[in-house]
Amino acid sequence: MQKKTIDETQQGNTLVLDDKKENTKKLFIESYGCAMNFSDSEIVASILNEQGFNTTQNLEDADLVLVNTCSIRDKAEQTVRKRLEKYNAVKRDLNPKMKVGVLGCMAERLKEKFLDEEKIVDMVVGPDAYKDLPNLLAEVESGNDAVNVILSKEETYGDIAPVRLNTNGINALVSITRGCDNMCTFCVVPFTRGRERSRDPQSILEEVNDLASKGYKEVTLLGQNVDSYLWYGGGLKKDFKDASEMQKATATNFAQLLGMVARAQPKMRVRFSTSNPQDMTEDVFHIMAKHQNICNHIHLPFQSGSDRILKAMNRQHTAEEYRALAHRMWEILPDCTISQDIIVGFPGETEEDHQDTLQLMEDIKFVFGYMYKYSERPGTLAGRKLEDNVPEETKKRRLTEIVNAQRNHSAHRTQQFIGKTTEVLIEKESKKDPNQWSGRNEQSIVVVFPKENYQPGDFVNVKIHDCTSATLIGTPAPLSVQG
Ligand code: SAH
Ligand code: F3S
Repeated sequence: MQKKTIDETQQGNTLVLDDKKENTKKLFIESYGCAMNFSDSEIVASILNEQGFNTTQNLEDADLVLVNTCSIRDKAEQTVRKRLEKYNAVKRDLNPKMKVGVLGCMAERLKEKFLDEEKIVDMVVGPDAYKDLPNLLAEVESGNDAVNVILSKEETYGDIAPVRLNTNGINALVSITRGCDNMCTFCVVPFTRGRERSRDPQSILEEVNDLASKGYKEVTLLGQNVDSYLWYGGGLKKDFKDASEMQKATATNFAQLLGMVARAQPKMRVRFSTSNPQDMTEDVFHIMAKHQNICNHIHLPFQSGSDRILKAMNRQHTAEEYRALAHRMWEILPDCTISQDIIVGFPGETEEDHQDTLQLMEDIKFVFGYMYKYSERPGTLAGRKLEDNVPEETKKRRLTEIVNAQRNHSAHRTQQFIGKTTEVLIEKESKKDPNQWSGRNEQSIVVVFPKENYQPGDFVNVKIHDCTSATLIGTPAPLSVQG
């Protein structure tokens, strides 16, 4: 099944906080794109909460409108442009004093161009410059435009406690790395989010402990590439001559961090995203096997099943290495599910390459996936060197074929749960039926079941009697019948 990513919906997610009595100004902040953007908006809201701002959901009332943007595909940028037109109209007709700022990846990609092209924008702030917001705001309030798009090799916002009052109080995002050093040739992220850096494990643990004390039941450790998390006892990657020297220092790697988080809060579910096949190591599987509270699900994008295309993408793995990694994982974690990201129509992709992608899908049978048509991004290596030469019609057809294949594989995965009992963390009311709860099991499959006396945030064992390709349907079951 193709899941809609947030950047492809029409309106972003608006963040709302409890009001601070002494605050007099109103902030409207909305976010598009990946989980990291949502997490960053929480950091921004926390900074502005200290600067006299309460949040509002009414654009018309806002003193300050911020949009946290995504550049990953052209469509994502078009969505944001439409929103900027909307803010423009509101500012012109209803609220001339309103100030507008662009945050995140588009801010970083387009920099000052925003101020020239989009007359509505007063402020442009890149992903590493949020601590400068108070200064930038002062600049804007004195009638000037303000820009800070400086990328940092160190900024992790480890010392800022994000505010999370718009969430369900159950699941929280905790970022552990920022940036990416991989340079996949199609991807704009290394340009918009800068070099990879890891956050101090102590500050991660403090944040997780704080979330637990506030009643949160699940944390997702976030990074563009979580498996390359590495913290050198106070040092930074650049302080070391080479990889072996770094390894010798007292370092914390991703597997160790995962174990530390799982041990710190054994009653909390721990998830992580995103993994990269080239950096994923067996010790992560062993740590997952050792700690029951680390969920048996790995989001492991593979992008293409063709080695020729993987090479052109500068991915550091082959299709065969990906298969081998998945099979090794299943030896250690037999119940673990894998989800994917795939791009169809990368420059030069032939029918044979496409068949290789379908074959890899068939071999693994992913639980779900995020599938995209290649979108050329200015400045990336592929954008500069390769012609976007797969016709739109062909991209569309190939996308339909992989989406259909994924639907079959998702159905295969959900059917395996019929007759079994699976533990569910209740997240919310089912959209389709107000008498049912909706949550996920540790394999990250959505489960719905009758509400009975349970509440969001409860862990419930649910016996599955039916399913669709994306959802398990069941009834609460006593522990003793766990299958
Ligand atoms: N490592 C990151 C990847 C970010 S981009 C993470 O945390 O998920 C998410 C996905 O978008 C990628 O895995 C890729 O499948 C897709 N993507 C990236 N650049 C793209 C492009 N130029 N066109 C189409 N899809 C793209
Ligand atoms: Fe992008 Fe590849 Fe990094 S997809 S975020 S360059 S791992």
